[in-house]
Amino acid sequence: MLRLRSQTPALWTEIVQRDLDTFLRDHAHNERKVSQSALALAKDNPHRVELTDAMVELATEELDHFRQVYARLRERGVTLGFDQPDPYMTAMRKLCRKSDTDEYLLDRLVVFAIVEARGFERFHMMGEALPTEDPLKGFYQDIARSEAQHRALFLRLAKRFFPEDAVSARLDALLDEEARILAILPLRAAVH
Ligand SMILES: [Fe+2]
Ligand SMILES: [Fe+2]
Repeated sequence: MLRLRSQTPALWTEIVQRDLDTFLRDHAHNERKVSQSALALAKDNPHRVELTDAMVELATEELDHFRQVYARLRERGVTLGFDQPDPYMTAMRKLCRKSDTDEYLLDRLVVFAIVEARGFERFHMMGEALPTEDPLKGFYQDIARSEAQHRALFLRLAKRFFPEDAVSARLDALLDEEARILAILPLRAAVH
């Protein structure tokens, strides 16, 4: 079971709601990048058919999320905007050990499981915090449900290719790291 080791403060949803356009731009780019990361995992592991199958599906689904967030931006009369640095994702990617191919794959799967879990936490918070009359409320409730499934997918794949105790040990270490990374980042109108 994947349980995050820190909780996002409710203040974050207030910061986001004060600047929803900036948040939506960041969210759109996040979906685009997750789709690209799924394709990269497929490209790097063509011999692991179960992984390739799952990543082709996931890339499509995340690209559809990108399309949906982009449509909401355009409805609001806002353009996509340039991608902004995401210090959280930069730090999370650095946690992946690159010297060994198997270790690298295990770390990528575990890191993505944690990132999807954090996405679930934050989109769920948005679904709760937005006023009932805001059409974005239902949208974020739906997005949160997808992220919960993606969290489970990455954990399942990790356990499919690596021994359970190796996955648990790495998950334990990386969950601590994730909480540490998030704790030193400012709260802003962004997914992370
Ligand atoms: Fe998504
Ligand atoms: Fe996702």
